[in-house]
Amino acid sequence: MPCNCCEITDNAFSKAEASAEIRNYRKRGPANQTKLILEAIRALGLKDAALLDIGGGIGAIHHELLNNVAREAIHVDASSAYLKEAKEETERRGNRERVRFIHADFTDVASNLPQADVVTMDRVVCCYPDFRSLLKAAADHSRRAIALTYPRETWYMRFGFGIMNFFQRIQKDPFRVFLHPVAEMESLLKNEGFVKTSVQRLVIWEMALYQRP
Ligand SMILES: C[S@@+](CC[C@H](N)C(=O)[O-])C[C@H]1O[C@@H](n2cnc3c(N)ncnc32)[C@H](O)[C@@H]1O
Repeated sequence: MPCNCCEITDNAFSKAEASAEIRNYRKRGPANQTKLILEAIRALGLKDAALLDIGGGIGAIHHELLNNVAREAIHVDASSAYLKEAKEETERRGNRERVRFIHADFTDVASNLPQADVVTMDRVVCCYPDFRSLLKAAADHSRRAIALTYPRETWYMRFGFGIMNFFQRIQKDPFRVFLHPVAEMESLLKNEGFVKTSVQRLVIWEMALYQRP
């Protein structure tokens, strides 16, 4: 399916949203679903890991994991506004040399990027139509583990996403949110050699940790 996804996503995640997110992060720390990813990764007991954060937004995951788990990170994001905030925060923390920032749709640039020990995708698959290509590329780039959050497959999420997409349509905004089938995501990652080792649920988000056996 032809899709100028990067452009659509870049427009959807604006400067105003990015500023609000970084303010929240500085005030309250990582969001609850992000904390689930951080706990799952910390439980792996890695040191000096290489991290690949796809769609990392304002960079909460690498800001946190560079403290004690990761040696370096690559942050690929389709949103230039989020990347700008992520870079500024990274500099503020003295980590500028440890993070490489790439403004792109990950599926477009994946073949030029190295593998990492851990790949994270926090609330990313639900912003992208072709979850199969995205997950396949993520799996190819992970030596050890993938941790991701995605919306739970419940009636209320289906209803909520239906309303959100309805308003997007009437505003003629091409950005959509997606409730991708969890069983298909799991089966794809299993075929790529991963085993699901942990699942945690909040009201809206589910976090799954996949590891190579
Ligand atoms: C809802 S935001 C989540 C940001 C951050 N992970 C968080 O949880 O706060 C989704 C992010 O994924 C990015 N994104 C979605 N699809 C992407 C893709 N194919 N490649 C790179 N970034 C992508 C968007 O630009 C956006 O920054």
